[in-house]
Amino acid sequence: MSYEIKITPIEKTKIDSIDVNNIIMGFSFSDHMFICDYENGAWHNPRIEPLALIPTHPAAMALHYGQAIFEGMKVTTGKNGTPLLFRPDQNAKRLNFSADRMGMPSFPQDLFIEGLKKLVALDKAWIPSKEGSALYLRPFMYADEPFIGMRAAKSYKFIVMASPSGPIYSHKIKLFAEKKYVRAVNGGTGEAKAAGNYAAAVLPTENAKAKGYHQVLWLDAQDFEYIQEVGTMNIFFKINGKFITPDLSGSILAGITRMCVIDLLRDKGFEVTERPIKLSEIKEASANGTLEEAFGTGTAVGIAMIEEIGNEDFTLNLPESNPVSNMINNTLNAIKVQKEVDKFGWIVEAK
Ligand SMILES: Cc1ncc(COP(=O)(O)O)c(C=O)c1O
Repeated sequence: MSYEIKITPIEKTKIDSIDVNNIIMGFSFSDHMFICDYENGAWHNPRIEPLALIPTHPAAMALHYGQAIFEGMKVTTGKNGTPLLFRPDQNAKRLNFSADRMGMPSFPQDLFIEGLKKLVALDKAWIPSKEGSALYLRPFMYADEPFIGMRAAKSYKFIVMASPSGPIYSHKIKLFAEKKYVRAVNGGTGEAKAAGNYAAAVLPTENAKAKGYHQVLWLDAQDFEYIQEVGTMNIFFKINGKFITPDLSGSILAGITRMCVIDLLRDKGFEVTERPIKLSEIKEASANGTLEEAFGTGTAVGIAMIEEIGNEDFTLNLPESNPVSNMINNTLNAIKVQKEVDKFGWIVEAK
């Protein structure tokens, strides 16, 4: 289906106010946003406008009852200068999975992709060219109905904004194995990319940072025994030449980078198993020298090598060299800028 997306371009671009190739992620935003309203059971008025404040009623339900979900994706530039989206269909699917879990309406996948393409084509100048940098897209949906009372809202906004970003971690990371707080339980909202999941992670993450760690390593909510995922990443280990990653047990976010890494590793001939992983298994592998590599995967961070996992009770120092993870990281980055053939069909040109 083809949608009519009304475009109102900005009068004067703000691009001269920043250097897109020297920028910390999250602070600067491109000229435009894609926006669409949900009312009376349908999405209306898809449009691209200059990025601006959105008038919000103090009773907007998202502010009180938390119906808010989001996505994260990165745009790069291809061989001919064409902006490239990476697996946008997967982000659309996950957005709608999250929407379903949070009692929110789904957003048409073809409109999602068409809106992104038009936004990115318009704000093309905001895509950094520097290696490791990209234009981060943040699609999100929230309940904007002004109402006090606990029920599904009747009106929502879907918005996509764009923020040029440099690499987040150029160094290895340290993870705090959290034994007091939990991120998610089976039957909860951990599988959804719901804003509230991140709100609940703020305090433990700040505590971990104060202790010198970069992110929290979440363990299962029942026994604090099984590894789940990291702050904004999924996690992989290489033991004795084989890769393992926690299976999607019902409380872990199904990362799109995780999906790609599994495909790439298998394509390169490695065995990858998705299964429950006990922290004690990793400690044992570290002690007997079979733990060879460990890394986190996520859109914002790419592949982040892990140098340490610990808490007040233990410290694991991981091997310094990460040959396979580095190779996978390089392959993924090369596919994203069309320096390597996209044999999986992950790239979508925005034109
Ligand atoms: C909790 C959590 N887990 C995993 C991921 C990795 O997902 P993706 O690879 O789709 O970015 C993210 C980032 O979106 C996240 O926030």
